[in-house]
Amino acid sequence: MNTRPVATFARTSARVLGRARGRIADAAWFGVSVLIAVGLVGSQLRSATSSLAEVADTAAAAAACLALWWRRRWPVPIAVVLGVLTCLTPAAQVPALVCLGTVASRRPVRPLIAVALVLVAATVTRYVDELSVPRFTLKISSERGDGNGAVNSALLLVIVIAWGLYIRARRQLVASLRERADKAEAEQRLRIEQARSGERARIAREMHDVLAHRISLISLQAGALQVSRRQDDAVAESAALIRTSAHQALEDLRGVIGVLRAGENETSPLVPQPTLADLRRLVEESVRAGMAVSLHEDPGDAYGDVPAHVGRTAYRVVQEGLTNARKHAPGAAVTVRASLGTGLDVEVRNPRGTARADLASPIPGAGQGLVGLSERARLVGGRLEYGWTAKDEFRLAAWLPLRE
Ligand SMILES: Nc1ncnc2c1ncn2[C@@H]1O[C@H](COP(=O)(O)OP(=O)(O)OP(=O)(O)O)[C@@H](O)[C@H]1O
Ligand SMILES: [Mg+2]
Repeated sequence: MNTRPVATFARTSARVLGRARGRIADAAWFGVSVLIAVGLVGSQLRSATSSLAEVADTAAAAAACLALWWRRRWPVPIAVVLGVLTCLTPAAQVPALVCLGTVASRRPVRPLIAVALVLVAATVTRYVDELSVPRFTLKISSERGDGNGAVNSALLLVIVIAWGLYIRARRQLVASLRERADKAEAEQRLRIEQARSGERARIAREMHDVLAHRISLISLQAGALQVSRRQDDAVAESAALIRTSAHQALEDLRGVIGVLRAGENETSPLVPQPTLADLRRLVEESVRAGMAVSLHEDPGDAYGDVPAHVGRTAYRVVQEGLTNARKHAPGAAVTVRASLGTGLDVEVRNPRGTARADLASPIPGAGQGLVGLSERARLVGGRLEYGWTAKDEFRLAAWLPLRE
């Protein structure tokens, strides 16, 4: 099942929800600041000394509340301005604290320390008699000398900074978790794609090697039958061979289709799995089909030491070699050798074809057989060579290691 749209939907929803939560928090802080400002300004206006003070106090309070809308964009400058404003009107205190929280949660430590120092200085200024900062409100005067108020203000600053830092740590944690989840998801996707393409290549190789061999045998037999001038017995024998080969092709096809149908995570064996011991049978099949093939095996008594996957690869090399000889050098005598040395050596040789070209129509080929074989040999740590020799023979040879 493709889980990508679900994951994308979940991520988009989380982002939308996060943004909505931010907007609600903005509105809440704005509302709280306005309420407190209205309360403070209202009570202070009653005791204001002049109409200029009234206007300035109200304007400063309104500006402080409004500035909250831009606190995410420019948290540091706004926090500094609001900090200075707290010296002039207590209505700026809540917005200044909110902005301090934003700086703590979104900016590095240095700007945070700078903003905190501005707010500490503003707090000290509010409580120190000697400093004659022009104030619009009369209420300020009653704060002077109030020890509890100073302590509370300092405490509030510490709490807000701690809260902002906590939010920042949580946000960083969520971001790193999300990043790890994204990375794991991408890696998983890559692994699945690699496994799929590897599996497709494996199946394609298997289909090529198995079916090309069997079907080329059938084709050869059909060609021979077509031009046969011999008596009925020979025709019957060829027909029987065609039938057997066709049956085997169907069996092989069933095995390959079994692989295609197997579950994605299943590393099902490609049944039936040939081994080196089947080389003789393979050669006999070709001989029965009319090819002149001689097999020279030099296994000593160590054939059993050859790992199954190496034996299978060697079998496929000989199989493709015989198929190619049948296709590209009809009538030529073929020599197959298998010997054990530093590794397993297999070789298929044949001179140029001698059969009449009109004996049968040429068997089609995709030109992929030797390329696929090279890949097979490389996969087991071996190498494959092929081409025309100085003796004008086509030579296909593989060296396969006995250990990984
Ligand atoms: N035994 C051989 N004798 C002469 N020529 C050969 C022999 N084996 C291979 N060749 C040449 O090498 C070419 C590549 O062989 P390869 O097995 O890769 O492709 P193919 O047999 O044409 O097609 P496919 O194997 O995909 O069905 C052939 O087209 C042929 O020209
Ligand atoms: Mg071929």
